[in-house]
Amino acid sequence: MATLAFKFEEITARELKPELYELDGISRATIEAHYKLYEGYVNKRNEILQKLDGVDVSSANQAYSELRALKVDLTFAIGGIKNHEIYFEHLGGGGGDPKGLTGDLIRRDFGSVEAWRADLKATGMAGRGWAWTAYDWDEGRLFNYVGDAQNTYPIWNATPLIALDVYEHAYFLDYQTDRASYIDAFFDNLDWSTIDDWVSKYQIQK
Ligand SMILES: [Fe+2]
Repeated sequence: MATLAFKFEEITARELKPELYELDGISRATIEAHYKLYEGYVNKRNEILQKLDGVDVSSANQAYSELRALKVDLTFAIGGIKNHEIYFEHLGGGGGDPKGLTGDLIRRDFGSVEAWRADLKATGMAGRGWAWTAYDWDEGRLFNYVGDAQNTYPIWNATPLIALDVYEHAYFLDYQTDRASYIDAFFDNLDWSTIDDWVSKYQIQK
């Protein structure tokens, strides 16, 4: 029996910064519940990779097969990890307008911070799960992309810098169905210094 063979290592959930429990307008109860969902994606990623190690590849089939089911759902689990690691890491700040490198990129590619904020908010209202500000390395610019599930719709060769979670689990406890107010709170808690560090680390040029 031909089997899929590869090496993998289990990963563990990253711990939350203490500031995440003291956000303005996003409650500790929401963050605690949200973190549990993130831990669930980490566990599923490990479980799926464990099952892929040794799965029968001779039965691979695009209508249904164990290999297909595991590989499709792996994208959901990994998306859930990466999306939430950005989300939690870049909250806990004071919001406002970006003053560093990220602000320069935003003003260049959107015209103004206000225009970027309005565009990302609208994109978040249009998404079923996510909106991202990402840098497309081929176009050499930022753009606000819409996402639905954890694994839709990433753009190849684009690096997400801001991840706005608009799944209802991110805000229903605090805002019921008022997503727009939650998005305003999200902006108020952004930590621009963290985002600037990513822009520097990735060597995104002005
Ligand atoms: Fe989430």
